[in-house]
Amino acid sequence: MKIVTLLGSPRLKKNSATIANRFTETAAALGAETRTFELNQLAYRGCQGCYACKKGHEQCVLQDDLTEVLSAVQEADAVVLASPVYYGDVTAQLKGFIDRCYSYLKPDYLTNPQPSRLSPKKLVFVLVQGHPDEALFADIFPRYDGFMKWMGFTDSRLIRTCGIGPASVDAVPEEVLRQAEEAARALAG
Ligand SMILES: Cc1cc2nc3c(=O)[nH]c(=O)nc-3n(C[C@H](O)[C@H](O)[C@H](O)COP(=O)(O)O)c2cc1C
Repeated sequence: MKIVTLLGSPRLKKNSATIANRFTETAAALGAETRTFELNQLAYRGCQGCYACKKGHEQCVLQDDLTEVLSAVQEADAVVLASPVYYGDVTAQLKGFIDRCYSYLKPDYLTNPQPSRLSPKKLVFVLVQGHPDEALFADIFPRYDGFMKWMGFTDSRLIRTCGIGPASVDAVPEEVLRQAEEAARALAG
């Protein structure tokens, strides 16, 4: 099983990355082939709305650091998207990737019963927020999950934790790390 992880936080060793890394380490120990991209380290543009991917091109025509990420995701069996909540949404780094995923949709995606160019994939979404109220920002996962399902991420799960701010790695509750391990076992075990 190939697992591709995208870290959406600029804080590469902090909360969301800690959870995602626990997931990938557990999956790797079970034999999964894992690859992690630190989006903040990459240079790329958001979708330019050129519609080349709907007019004869099967892939995004932009050539930048996200080109390799998009093709790694295409070949993956499972994808982990990890992000802190920034202003009630995922980070700009992750949103930039998600917008470029438009290239995975076929030209007739609005009417085609199989709208995606991707083979079916599993999705693990990791979200971390500073605010302790779980009702706040609870819309983020269902909103993106709908779009991701459309693009072929048919089976998804959320690992979410609230009320952890810019503290140390130790701030991630042990129970959440256990959830990440359990999710990895369910996927790669
Ligand atoms: C620019 C910015 C915007 C943020 N916006 C929110 C927010 O809207 N809601 C919230 O609960 N926390 C917000 N936070 C707090 C982060 O989500 C929180 O500190 C998170 O644990 C950081 O995750 P990380 O360690 O993976 O970067 C924000 C932090 C920053 C830097």
